[in-house]
Amino acid sequence: MQGKRILLIVGGGIAAYKSLELVRRLKERGASVRAIVTKGGAEFVTPLSLSVLTEEKAFTDLFDLKDEAEIGHIRLSREADLIVVAPATADLLAKMTHGLADDLATAVLLATDKRVLAAPAMNVRMWQHPATRRNLATLQADGIEFVGPDEGEMACGEYGRGRMAEPAAILEAIGRLLGAEASPFAVGTPLGPLSGRRVLITSGPTQEPIDPVRYIANRSSGKQGHALAKAAAALGAEVTLVSGPVALPDPHGVTMVKVETAHEMLAATLAALPADIAICAAAVADWRAADESPHKLKKQGHEIETELRLAQNPDILVTISKPGPRRPRLVIGFAAETENLIENATAKRRSKGADWIVANDVWPGTGAMGGDTTQVHLITPSGVEDWPPLSKDETAARLLARAADALSAMRSAAE
Ligand code: C5P
Repeated sequence: MQGKRILLIVGGGIAAYKSLELVRRLKERGASVRAIVTKGGAEFVTPLSLSVLTEEKAFTDLFDLKDEAEIGHIRLSREADLIVVAPATADLLAKMTHGLADDLATAVLLATDKRVLAAPAMNVRMWQHPATRRNLATLQADGIEFVGPDEGEMACGEYGRGRMAEPAAILEAIGRLLGAEASPFAVGTPLGPLSGRRVLITSGPTQEPIDPVRYIANRSSGKQGHALAKAAAALGAEVTLVSGPVALPDPHGVTMVKVETAHEMLAATLAALPADIAICAAAVADWRAADESPHKLKKQGHEIETELRLAQNPDILVTISKPGPRRPRLVIGFAAETENLIENATAKRRSKGADWIVANDVWPGTGAMGGDTTQVHLITPSGVEDWPPLSKDETAARLLARAADALSAMRSAAE
């Protein structure tokens, strides 16, 4: 982030205090920060605190003629690499959606051609309101990026989604966007932290035919695996995504290999080696029908039980984790568990031979299965890290950023 220029817009919400921490962390990383605080924002943090931390005047109002003459809203936007809105209140998001520009913050947001990252913060019911859902969809279609909100206890005493993302998560999203700006999803771009690296990802379920019309499969949407492929491409990697049948668009800038069965997935995965990083996010069916019928099996009457013989499928993660010259330097598996999550996932890391395991609780109530958010624990040889609930895109970005760091640490250690 060294030398990057962030324009921070602080909206009016209790989460504004976290923005002060965000400024400190950005400055520690060598970024320069300019702040605009809305009228509502100034009720929660003073322009003076922001000026002290940013070491620049904090801007407050479009109609301060002196400021406009010295540095107008156009220049504020032009002189930034990224605009961050934190907290982004429901009101600010609504104004952004409709292109209102009745104060300095909204005028800058309307005038800018820079990327904008918003960290929403509001009461859970405001977040869930159809108006906010509509605004969010419009802003996403306009290319606005989002981080959070998180789920948890709210200042108003309620519980739910609406808490502003923590400064660490916002910082991570800023890093990702500044990296992505240098390499807008181009494969093998020379600038991203994974440029020149090959990343192999398995995603989705496999389908194991019983007969021409029936199959055995797992409940997997492929959302997490596809998000990982996008995140790796955004960091400049050359990505191969081996995917079972899913109802998702092919991510931009990755080599897609579409398969159906575990055997096909194994063959495609081995064919895509060598790779620097392999992430097995697919929910591979553990069993297949031992004798696939060439014809549709017929019911034989109401009371007659039919036996289905099963044969075990090959374990792709175990196969590619085996030591040898073609083993990727970092192999990451997933463990979806409904009980004893950490214990089972830790045992799985060892038994599968993976370097890291991403453990997630898929108990039906969590909504992780098929949903857009997930809460994971990263299990590495040095222990267990509990990550906050994040969207699958954010989880993917965070995991790939960690993997990129781990690879460069391995390279430095080897030098
Ligand atoms: O054993 P379990 O299915 O819980 O292990 C999950 C991990 O192993 C995931 O990373 C999954 O992609 C991988 N796996 C695999 N091949 C299999 C079964 C699981 O690669 N046949």
